[in-house]
Amino acid sequence: PAHRPLYGKHVLVTAGPTREAIDPVRYLSNRSSGKQGFAIAAAAAAAGARVTLVAGPVALPTPLGVGRIDVESAEDMQAAVRRALPADAAVMVAAVADWRAKTIEHEKIKKHSSAPPALILEENPDILAWLATHPDRPGLLVGFAAETENVLDNAKSKLQRKRADWIVANDVSESGGAMDGDDNAVVIVAADGVERLDRMPKHQVGRELVARIAQALGAPAEV
Ligand code: C5P
Repeated sequence: PAHRPLYGKHVLVTAGPTREAIDPVRYLSNRSSGKQGFAIAAAAAAAGARVTLVAGPVALPTPLGVGRIDVESAEDMQAAVRRALPADAAVMVAAVADWRAKTIEHEKIKKHSSAPPALILEENPDILAWLATHPDRPGLLVGFAAETENVLDNAKSKLQRKRADWIVANDVSESGGAMDGDDNAVVIVAADGVERLDRMPKHQVGRELVARIAQALGAPAEV
């Protein structure tokens, strides 16, 4: 029916930050509330999809009808995404840490009176770019881009670099206001064009995006 345009579809969503352990009490992470990703998962479930939400550590309730998998690190998130495949569409909203500590200390690092310890980092997998070339690549692959400047240019180059179908760009600079807030103003960048959505509640951004996902997956237009 028209009000459940994603019925029979599996939608995979990543959301929140990842947490990369340094020792048993310390970690590296990104600023991310998870609100936008959770709102997209909620909207997809409301549209009738089976939804798998792979969530980093956030303080948010699981949306109604959503299957949630909690993870900590980027590697955990990638493994959970791999296990959740196949999916008809994937929306990668998580703010994945670009780096992790090369070695995780098993005991708490002591605060010596001498110099602070050096932190050696190594690169995390780029889950979006990895999924784009995976044999089970979802038919529609959507990435996000949190930018503080040149939002459109950066989104366009990210679209190509990561081989996503769409990049949803949002301005996370101080004036953009998306970070931690309940509103978001996004630009949807696809190979064939750009669509700007006015500032609106993140839940509404979720519904707008899900309507476009349903359309792209060939759901009958709502009447
Ligand atoms: O390169 P950048 O981190 O800005 O790209 C953002 C997009 O890539 C988001 O969709 C994010 O979820 C995804 N990403 C990812 N794995 C990473 C880094 C980013 O899936 N390691």
